Amino acid sequence: MKKMISASILNADFSCLESQIQAAEKAGVDWIHLDIMDGHFVPNISFGPQIAAMVRKMTSLPIDTHLMISNPDQFIAAFSDAGADYISVHVENNPHIHRTIQNILKNGKHAGIVLNPGTPVQAIYPVLHMVSYVLIMSVNPGFGGQSFLPESLDKISELSAKIKAEKRDVLIEVDGGINAETLPLAAKAGAEIFVVGSYIFTNPQGIPHAMQTLKA
Ligand code: DX5
Ligand code: ZN
Repeated sequence: MKKMISASILNADFSCLESQIQAAEKAGVDWIHLDIMDGHFVPNISFGPQIAAMVRKMTSLPIDTHLMISNPDQFIAAFSDAGADYISVHVENNPHIHRTIQNILKNGKHAGIVLNPGTPVQAIYPVLHMVSYVLIMSVNPGFGGQSFLPESLDKISELSAKIKAEKRDVLIEVDGGINAETLPLAAKAGAEIFVVGSYIFTNPQGIPHAMQTLKA
């Protein structure tokens, strides 16, 4: 399948967010990635459904919402109403993960399951049949601009082999520290969707150049 770029706006310039998103869209990103942080599950706070709804008006691209929050069930309807197309939740903080994924599906959205770098890939196997994608974190979530953890590559390979062996229609997304050097490594291991934040939005050579080097 085609490799896709999901642009994380976390480190975009929010004083001109619309033009940043439009520049990313024009440069060829496939999805817009929204990082939702609550200061509890991760040590940072980002933004909520109100900003997500504004982003929805700024682009026609699919919106990929990554919930890094302690009570995801409480906010799935709000982010669905705000126009998310894809919603992913972490496996680590959730004692009732099947219920949470059902909740995403009931809202008519594609469901994804996310695992932190310290979580073994087997932790998501009980729900692999329920999700459209698995998001493998290649940094500890909370901040943009961190370095890619190479240990993530083995997890991507292992998951890719499992999905192939079971002939499942599940995509592998990777998030954290993706740039022109690390993207090919993750792609070789089996990732298909690449979340890219600071490499696109804080690139000194600009957004079009960033996308050209990622696509190359
Ligand atoms: C980290 C977020 C990522 C991050 C990506 O908590 O989930 O989406 O913002 O940013 P970069 O590409 O800068 O690592
Ligand atoms: Zn993310």
